[in-house]
Amino acid sequence: MTTTEKSIKSIAPINIAVVKYWGKENEEFNTPLNSSISVTLHVKDMCAETEVVADSKFKEDKLFLNGREEDIQKNKRVQRCLNMVRSKPTLKRKHNEDATPIVRCHITSANNFPTAAGLASSAAGYACLAKCLGHVYNYEKDLSVVARLGSGSACRSMLGGFVKWEKGKCPEGSDSCAVQIANEHHWPELKVIILVVSSNQKSVGSTEGMRRSVTTSQLLKYRAEHCVPGHIDKIEKAIHSKDFPMFAELTMKESNQLHAICQDTYPPLRYMNTTSHDIVNLITKYNAAKLKAAYTFDAGANAVLFTLDEFYEELLSTLLKYFPFTNTEIESWINMPSSQVKELKTKAAELPDVCIHEDALQRIICTMPGPGASVVVSDE
Ligand code: PMV
Repeated sequence: MTTTEKSIKSIAPINIAVVKYWGKENEEFNTPLNSSISVTLHVKDMCAETEVVADSKFKEDKLFLNGREEDIQKNKRVQRCLNMVRSKPTLKRKHNEDATPIVRCHITSANNFPTAAGLASSAAGYACLAKCLGHVYNYEKDLSVVARLGSGSACRSMLGGFVKWEKGKCPEGSDSCAVQIANEHHWPELKVIILVVSSNQKSVGSTEGMRRSVTTSQLLKYRAEHCVPGHIDKIEKAIHSKDFPMFAELTMKESNQLHAICQDTYPPLRYMNTTSHDIVNLITKYNAAKLKAAYTFDAGANAVLFTLDEFYEELLSTLLKYFPFTNTEIESWINMPSSQVKELKTKAAELPDVCIHEDALQRIICTMPGPGASVVVSDE
């Protein structure tokens, strides 16, 4: 018996939302209650890598995540992605092509950053999966829709730079997809600093958290109808015109609103911890005279900060001063040579009333906007 084998590898970035998605309109199709906007972060600092091998001699599909085999049949999200790319057009079905056996595949995926700690690890993973499955199964439609079926925010990791996930109008979500606002080269002065506060798994996953908010939070409904459309409009304009103060203010207000909804949820959801609030306090004081940095938090304790080139060293230095690291192995704590870290120490801003929080951060990742999911190797 002859076999046909196809294999493909892809890498995909994480993204950080500046207009947040929180709440599903339809759980089965994974469509959102509101549109959202994110910045894709560079794959050189954090990415997921996935390989899909499809072979007609495979008896079943298999899934390996970070080196461990998972039960792929029980994984509804992966099943939804597989069903989408393997579904045949109605036209072919009429010609009895349903009898053709499905070519099974083996999926291997790994992340180089903490899984489920509010760093959108699933977004990178499902963007990779969609990219690979699209190639292996010759799927010609929008792959951001396939990624969305795995994890909503994953659709935004398909594209680089500044990305909008359009809520869409079709009930089954065929137009609930990602569109690029501007590519990763659009705003080179914009810098991103990730403060890893915790690499623990979040206590309530985003799907369960959203479900709880949708059923109990009145604020969530108000936000989706009355706040998000204006925020989307303004932040798109701020991105196009590189208006940092506008971008920074909206980013922080959006983050505050997401966590206010979490607090309004019953029972309440708590993703930010005391260190997260200490970071908010530091950035607020740092911005007292002029907006120089913005914070944002997803469903986890880790902070993502935005700043501009001109404030970058001062901000980093200020962070090192108020959140110092006492261990000697600086290289495993910040992705920057220790000589550069030493030089930075002199540039910190003086912030009255801000306490020093020793060893409160597990890691600092300095990064920037980057490209979307891409294929690494293809041997067809
Ligand atoms: O894509 P999910 O189901 O992991 O949800 C992500 C939700 C937030 O990260 C909190 C916000 C967002 O828009 O990414």
